[in-house]
Amino acid sequence: MSVFDLSVTDALLSTTRAVRKRLDLERPVPNEIIRDCLELSLQAPSGSNKQGWRWIVVTDAGMRERLAEIYRKGAGSYLEDGYQEAKSSGAAQDIRVFDSARYLSDRLGEVPVHVIPCIEMDTDPAENPELLWPSLMGSILPAVWSFQLALRARGLGSTLTTLHLCYADEAAALLNIPDNIKQVGLLPVAYTKGTDFKPAKRRPLDELLHWNGW
Ligand SMILES: Cc1cc2nc3c(=O)[nH]c(=O)nc-3n(C[C@H](O)[C@H](O)[C@H](O)COP(=O)(O)O)c2cc1C
Repeated sequence: MSVFDLSVTDALLSTTRAVRKRLDLERPVPNEIIRDCLELSLQAPSGSNKQGWRWIVVTDAGMRERLAEIYRKGAGSYLEDGYQEAKSSGAAQDIRVFDSARYLSDRLGEVPVHVIPCIEMDTDPAENPELLWPSLMGSILPAVWSFQLALRARGLGSTLTTLHLCYADEAAALLNIPDNIKQVGLLPVAYTKGTDFKPAKRRPLDELLHWNGW
């Protein structure tokens, strides 16, 4: 006996994709849906239950365009180079990822909602990097994923992106983010065009799994 309907939970967990080309740029997203999904994300774990997560939701069109410019500056030639490299090596999955990432980069400003997850820095990770970096990132990224799963369950999609962080200080200035708050990404959020996403091809588990030591 399963606690939850496994056909539903497994489908949610295995089909929540990085959505870029299938983001519906025309359909407005009600603030309430973003609030509901963020409310659920707050059930995620955080180190010492500090709940240092912070969320900046950007709906203002001018600000989204500015963030998109910062993102494209951060990307530089990375996405185009990646696409050309994937094409010459013929790696089908990489071609799709870089093609889709180029598409998102070009249209990021048009995605109706940008969500910037942040974490409060109450210690300097340099003091004990082995412990503190995993603790900090581990205290926000589970919440980010919960947010993405909650979106998917409601017919919306997103992608965790990080390229704007190359110029995180410019985004911080734009959004008035205090010095002790660290941005960890930018999630473009929209309804998806259709909801029929599929599990992706991944490396075989047995190549990655070690029992009782490496
Ligand atoms: C830490 C991290 C950073 C990422 N940064 C970007 C990014 O800057 N831009 C982008 O388009 N996708 C970004 N992605 C999305 C990945 O490309 C995506 O998760 C991966 O290709 C798997 O996609 P799939 O789950 O749809 O198979 C990032 C993902 C992670 C986990």
